[in-house]
Amino acid sequence: MYSLNGKTAFLTGGSSGITLGIAEKYAKEGMNIVLLARNEDKLAAAKAVIEGHGAACAAIPADVRDAEAMAGAFEIAAEKFGEIDVIVAGAAGNFLAMAKDLKPKGFKTVMDIDAGGVFNTYNAGFPHLRKPGGCLIAISAPQATIPYPAQIHANAAKAAIEQIVRSVAVEWGPLGVRSLGISPGPIADTEGMARLAPTPKALEQAAKAPVLTRLGAKEEVADLAAFLASDHAAYITGTIVPCDGGLGLVGLAGLGG
Ligand code: COA
Repeated sequence: MYSLNGKTAFLTGGSSGITLGIAEKYAKEGMNIVLLARNEDKLAAAKAVIEGHGAACAAIPADVRDAEAMAGAFEIAAEKFGEIDVIVAGAAGNFLAMAKDLKPKGFKTVMDIDAGGVFNTYNAGFPHLRKPGGCLIAISAPQATIPYPAQIHANAAKAAIEQIVRSVAVEWGPLGVRSLGISPGPIADTEGMARLAPTPKALEQAAKAPVLTRLGAKEEVADLAAFLASDHAAYITGTIVPCDGGLGLVGLAGLGG
């Protein structure tokens, strides 16, 4: 249905959460999967999940902050599967800290993982990307435009990611490469939600925040990622597509403050 069969996807942060959900969807559509993440145990478990869907899978332990390691990871991926059709830049880090308390190192850490990580991924991936035909999908968040309290680091990093998405769309569009972002709202059963809404009360409040008044499912984000990577979206580039239950419409008001 999605014209993804036989293509190859390279996903950072692909060992868990939203990005593993996307990898699973791609695997079910017949794609070859390359997962890159830091934690080897989680990577091994994720690889088994992907192979359980019948897909070929390579799992590469690396940190998106390490440009040299990223270049090496793409070499390994290209050697195994050839040109890369789809890159999903999903690696991210977040925690709650008020701006007055956050150490400069904490701010830099999240900027380096989120924004720097997307740049490193695209920069290292470019030589191996199918041209024309390649598709880049960065995972952003409503924080890119909504200034959530206690998340100055993630707010700034996600805003930077959205400009990276547009910058790359402009530079690589003439080569036939599309660059897109997905902005997921509160998605159930993810590390992000566990960190940002750690109590049942906070989770309940988060679920009420979108105008659809519920949490999203990983599968709902994955369906969007499959559409965007497919030929059905061949004339769409340089934009961030929300999958947030309308959270972006109400912003901080959705959180009651
Ligand atoms: N509150 C305030 N500051 C914090 C913090 C917290 N809970 N956690 C980390 N920091 C700051 C600190 O300044 C820390 O350095 P310090 O302890 O020397 O002062 C700095 O960030 C780096 O933290 P560290 O744990 O050494 O970095 P890391 O590279 O191992 O981990 C994180 C990166 C902090 C983003 C970590 O939360 C992570 O790996 N997250 C990945 C998963 C994730 O967040 N998923 C959800 C995405 S929405």
